[in-house]
Amino acid sequence: MKVLIGGGSGFIGKALTNLLRGKGHEVTIISRKPGPGQITWDDVAFKGLPPCDGVVNLAGENLMNPLRWWNEEFKKDLISSRLNTTKTLVKAMVASDKLPNSWVLVTGVGYYKPSETLEYTEDSEGGDFDFLSQLVTEWEAAGRLPEDQAKSVRQVVIRSGIVLGKDGGAMKQMIWPFWLGLGGILGTGHQPFPWIHVADMAGIILHCLEPKYDVSGILNGVAPATDTNAVFTHALGTVLRRPTIFPVPSFAIGAIFGNERGSVLLQGQKVIPRRTLESGYIYKYPELQTALKNIVS
Ligand SMILES: NC(=O)c1ccc[n+]([C@@H]2O[C@H](COP(=O)([O-])OP(=O)(O)OC[C@H]3O[C@@H](n4cnc5c(N)ncnc54)[C@H](OP(=O)(O)O)[C@@H]3O)[C@@H](O)[C@H]2O)c1
Repeated sequence: MKVLIGGGSGFIGKALTNLLRGKGHEVTIISRKPGPGQITWDDVAFKGLPPCDGVVNLAGENLMNPLRWWNEEFKKDLISSRLNTTKTLVKAMVASDKLPNSWVLVTGVGYYKPSETLEYTEDSEGGDFDFLSQLVTEWEAAGRLPEDQAKSVRQVVIRSGIVLGKDGGAMKQMIWPFWLGLGGILGTGHQPFPWIHVADMAGIILHCLEPKYDVSGILNGVAPATDTNAVFTHALGTVLRRPTIFPVPSFAIGAIFGNERGSVLLQGQKVIPRRTLESGYIYKYPELQTALKNIVS
């Protein structure tokens, strides 16, 4: 397969690129910068879609970027980096003589309203209660192909949880306090912690690209185990053999990340990957303990 990956230079993109290339597939990355094996967003906008069997979009300004203050300018960048890249790909697909077989957009479980009790499947409602949920709604709408093209392309949206892996994402920021014995629950710790190992996120994307599984529609990109922040904190402390006795109070998270962004850490959604399991995807890391052992090994 020839696969085009928007934002393929990032954390999930690297894992996906390695997985695809390891299986003999050809990958072209779309980036803001030119480079070997890469084309730019301007190339796609002005020269059109290069020949490919599958298209994936992973581009987006990092929501938890510790170097950016939570302000209107940052929020605009979060929106435009996701919507503009997604629209560029859709426009290029619509204008293309040869449509790809599959089109996979990775969004987030921020679509579902945080709750300590409710369980969400792919059919659950959401997308209309705060900045992040509205962003996901607009992002997924921007990714929808017009009816004519939609008939011949399998469209998949993967709503991702917090992606855990060695080389990036949330773990990169979280692991140091834990190593130093300063890790602790965030807020009450009762909030659900919807997580997925990066190998499974890459695996689910590949599963969606492969024609034989015939996947389309929404999939929740989370592990089947539903854990809370307290369970995650304890499990990470255990695999690192470090104490986790210092809770991080809500006001400290708000002061560091801003209240709106801090809510991603202080609240969570219990997300069930019902359609992902029904589609036949077999998780490499369905349980937290084995996922964390692999990540810190
Ligand atoms: N990681 C997670 O825990 C998680 C959870 C839920 C959803 N997601 C979503 O999954 C996607 C991939 O996540 P990731 O962790 O792999 O992301 P990432 O590493 O932070 O970023 C992916 C790529 O996006 C491009 N990018 C960054 N800022 C941009 C901007 N302002 N405009 C255009 N492109 C920009 C960069 O590519 P270039 O520098 O090459 O242009 C970067 O390599 C994102 O859309 C993210 O929102 C991730």
